[in-house]
Amino acid sequence: MRQSSLVVVANRLPIDDSVAPDGACEWRRSPGGLVSALHPLLRHTPATWVGWAGGTGPAPSLPDIGSVRMRTVPLSSEDFRDHYEGFANSTLWPLYHDAVEQPEYHRRWWEAYQRVNQRFAEATAEAAEQGAVVWIQDYHLQLVPGLLRELRPDLRIGFFLHVPFPPPELFMQLPRRAELLRGMLGADLIGFQRAQAAHNFAQLVAKVLELPATDRRVGVDDRVVRIGAFPVSIDTAEMAALAGRPDVAARAQRLRHDLGDPGHVILSVDRMDYTKGIEQRLKAYSELLASGHVKVRDTVLVQVAVPSRERVTQYQILRDRVEREVGRINGEFGRVGEPAIHYLTQPFDRAELAALYRVADVMAVTPLRDGMNLVAKEYVAARVDDTGALLLSEFAGAAAELPQAYLVNPHDLEGLKQGLLSALEADPADVTPRMRAMREHLHRNDIRAWARSYLSALDDGGSLLTHLA
Ligand code: UDP
Ligand code: G6P
Repeated sequence: MRQSSLVVVANRLPIDDSVAPDGACEWRRSPGGLVSALHPLLRHTPATWVGWAGGTGPAPSLPDIGSVRMRTVPLSSEDFRDHYEGFANSTLWPLYHDAVEQPEYHRRWWEAYQRVNQRFAEATAEAAEQGAVVWIQDYHLQLVPGLLRELRPDLRIGFFLHVPFPPPELFMQLPRRAELLRGMLGADLIGFQRAQAAHNFAQLVAKVLELPATDRRVGVDDRVVRIGAFPVSIDTAEMAALAGRPDVAARAQRLRHDLGDPGHVILSVDRMDYTKGIEQRLKAYSELLASGHVKVRDTVLVQVAVPSRERVTQYQILRDRVEREVGRINGEFGRVGEPAIHYLTQPFDRAELAALYRVADVMAVTPLRDGMNLVAKEYVAARVDDTGALLLSEFAGAAAELPQAYLVNPHDLEGLKQGLLSALEADPADVTPRMRAMREHLHRNDIRAWARSYLSALDDGGSLLTHLA
């Protein structure tokens, strides 16, 4: 088996099998921020990506994508239920997002989490050449750094968490908290989205494992594990180029026409997830329609809500509630040919998203908690003429980097309504300098800058970086 000097390990591979309209199986880019971030980065970098291809049963063997070799790790239906849907997405996901839904704790899920992490560690140990750099991603695989170090002490091991890392009072709920922290400490470098997350981690390590820890370093056995904030980003230039393409501009014009040439288009693009604040946003919008501050003829809301983790009960309940509320709002406020909300659940490709971003006068990104939120950054990158207002939750990681957005607390319904109105009514003289400052920030701090800063910290400025030009 061929081995690589850079190995990325993530629960998801960048491609996912789906069913084409004609019923055939086809591969498409997997949904979500992790793949959006890493995919463009690795396009020209020789590497191996160890991950799960979606579905259950034996691992399909996948062709290379560009310079990246795919190494699939299979999940059985029990692994899928207990590791992916269970411990990862019904214990850790809600716990790490402020417990906006109740995390569940089951011993069987923890066993599956250990088992699947062990399998990922073994697959990675096989794929990595002597002294390779291994970059493990996200909350599904927090035990892999420790397990991999036992198998292959020669490797340089990095771990990056794409989601928030919670404060001690929440994390302390976890029945197996010590094991999870120890698993992460198998890495040489642990990256978080925010400095606050690194601080939370250091406090926990000191409290639970009684190890010497600061917000930058933890001493464990005879090693020093570095920790820090590395806010993830997007391929800013690529999104700007896409948004500037004549066919995308023409598509945007057609979309605006199809929406009835309204005075204002508000756009939201989310996975259907309870962390994204979709219900709170719909409530705010509905109250603005009811009070007459927003009129259907003048303003439309386009809500893209791509189904996600569909067998998990909380996601099913959310989808039902969102769809009932969209139906109610359209029934109450829409007219023939003029719905108040255009509600779309099919996933959009990059070009179609870029066209939507161009159409949106206001982009409403109002999660209750989000590690980063790349959609917010993509919108900014696509506004090449410096128009458009970004309404952004204070609880998205992106808010720390984009203070020029119209910031709101999504839990505060009146504040959310006021923020939406301010964004809708904003003077171009106010909007333009805000957008320009945000765009400049994202051109300086794009996905390559992120990878460079992380990998140079991990690899002591090493050789991998030449491929990331
Ligand atoms: N996305 C997409 N098609 C869609 C909806 C979303 O490609 O129809 C992408 C979007 O462009 C972004 C990612 O999915 O890059 C979502 O990342 P984000 O960080 O906003 O949220 P996550 O889903 O990771 O929680
Ligand atoms: C978030 C997580 C990713 C995950 C993505 C999509 O971005 O941080 O790890 O891949 O959501 O979720 P899914 O469950 O479909 O992989």
